[in-house]
Amino acid sequence: MNETTIAIIKATAPVIKEHGEAITTAMYENLFAEHPEAKELFKDAEPDQYKKLAAMVYAYAANIDNLGALGTGVEKVAKLHVKVNIEPKHYPWVGVALLKAITQVLGEAATPEVMAAWKEAFFFLADVFIAKEKEIYAVKA
Ligand code: HEM
Repeated sequence: MNETTIAIIKATAPVIKEHGEAITTAMYENLFAEHPEAKELFKDAEPDQYKKLAAMVYAYAANIDNLGALGTGVEKVAKLHVKVNIEPKHYPWVGVALLKAITQVLGEAATPEVMAAWKEAFFFLADVFIAKEKEIYAVKA
């Protein structure tokens, strides 16, 4: 990620935190509208799962220049993801749904520059999860 992306993500972190739950609520609506089959993956999820996802999105934004701070969090979530058979193909589903949710909630504040930075940042984080989950699936196989 380049410096501009990092600067934009850090600058928008407080706004994302403020609207964290609204964004993730909209994200799930978008996800299930676009990919109804994703509902099956969440069938055993706790009702407050969306709050945990919001908290992690905020933690990620705040620590974008120090991702080591998220290390054990990523490990724990990756294990959970493997338990419910999350696959690499699911990340773009969530990514597109999340980016759309950010534009819906932030409105005019979601400028093309802000959205480009979040797209890059989301898929960077997604790649971290995908790599970690690949390791866990390999051990299980
Ligand atoms: C970078 C993207 C993602 C982040 C930041 C993220 C974050 C999280 C967090 C924080 C949890 C809760 C862990 C806990 O209960 O302590 C979780 C669980 C879960 N996530 Fe993700 N996730 C991501 C991608 C995905 C994708 C792509 C899918 C599939 C469409 C998915 C489906 C789930 C499911 C089904 C659970 C388990 C819920 C349960 O059974 O309690 N996640 N994720």
